[in-house]
Amino acid sequence: MPATVIIGGQWGDEGKGKITDALAAQADMVVRPNGSTNAGHTVVTDQGVFKFHLVPSGVLHPACDCVIGAGVAVDPAQLLDEITALQARGVDLSRLYLSDRANVILPYHPALDRAEEQRRGTQSIGTTLRGNGPAYSDKVGRRGIRIADLLDESALVERLRLVLPEKNLLLASLYGEETFDAAALAERYAALGERLAPLVVQAEVLVQDALAAGKRVIVESAQATMLDVDYGTYPYVTSSMPTAAGACQGAGIGPTQVDTVIAVYKAYTTRVGGGPFPTELHDAIGQLLRDRGQEYGTTTGRPRRTGWFDAVAGRYAARLNGVTEVAVTKLDVLDALEEVRICVGYRLDGTPIDAPPSVAAVYERVEPVYEVLPGWREDTSQATSVDELPLNARRYLDRIAELLCVPVTMVGVGPQRRQLLHRTAGAAV
Ligand code: IMP
Repeated sequence: MPATVIIGGQWGDEGKGKITDALAAQADMVVRPNGSTNAGHTVVTDQGVFKFHLVPSGVLHPACDCVIGAGVAVDPAQLLDEITALQARGVDLSRLYLSDRANVILPYHPALDRAEEQRRGTQSIGTTLRGNGPAYSDKVGRRGIRIADLLDESALVERLRLVLPEKNLLLASLYGEETFDAAALAERYAALGERLAPLVVQAEVLVQDALAAGKRVIVESAQATMLDVDYGTYPYVTSSMPTAAGACQGAGIGPTQVDTVIAVYKAYTTRVGGGPFPTELHDAIGQLLRDRGQEYGTTTGRPRRTGWFDAVAGRYAARLNGVTEVAVTKLDVLDALEEVRICVGYRLDGTPIDAPPSVAAVYERVEPVYEVLPGWREDTSQATSVDELPLNARRYLDRIAELLCVPVTMVGVGPQRRQLLHRTAGAAV
């Protein structure tokens, strides 16, 4: 049974948690392949609002195994806090598994994240300060500590003795920050490892066994294509690979084992942190989108930057990921507008270009070319099918599908589970 990959088509916060939760109702396993506690996936049910940072969004379905894959960077204390908070709300976590290969976020990672951001000054990336970048740097620099290392305290202390001198030198000399002691850290993290031990597995083997047994596996990527470390707006990106290919790698799945790639897009665009954003609105409409869409970061609470739907960046993401279906979320946020705009082209120094420039400073100079569509000025939040949506809203979705060259198969009209409308691929919107 081939797997389904869910990715973000913009700069994050598209509603991947909501789509994962919906599809997990019919799945056997949800795998989180990348990112760290920088991510915040929100699912709203009759039991209230759930905000997941590391735990896959399938966990509310008791028949679904949930796997934190090798590509995730895990802060053990934050994972344990998330588990405890979910258990306190009656969520069954007996089917949660954690890859022994996942890298660990240690306290020097957030310390370095903060210090590096400060040093960047006006060029700061606007990271979530969770230690994500420094942890992934250590991973690829082969200085990382992995979950498996936490299960053996004597090996852990040796490993920390190897990596800590460099960290401490940086922290003390360059940043004037506190340093860390290998033995004390090893003791603390071995204790956390002991608490996590019951969850620890060779996740890629579990995932492959599930696929071989014909189980339905969903891969729930964090962040989004335009934040990808290779293809996003570098250096204003995250440090993992939130593409479909990156999701395969982080989950331990080969490209031929996937038949569906669902890209989630908001009906408009948001971005948190610095970096190019051609369709950004600094006016009353931008504020309206922020207010109606409650556009404040799930992890950091920061106000999100808001703007019109960008079909140039969107199509770039759809192509890069081999997207087969699109979910458009938060359509209802646009209900109040007289007219809606879609960016259908970019101009760079007056010349049309059809893909996001590779260099952030050049991308900053890009001017969006808009198509103006009539708004619908009707409440879409009560619609129970795509057919019930106002004609202009359907036309808007049609145009998005046309520009992305991918069918829109799901439409979100509010945060509740019932506010996700489905349609089969191939049918007109
Ligand atoms: P980091 O991943 O914390 O290093 O942050 C790097 C960039 O990615 C910053 O612009 C963050 O705002 C952005 N980012 C990281 N995680 C998320 C997310 O879950 N949603 C939206 N933006 C994110």
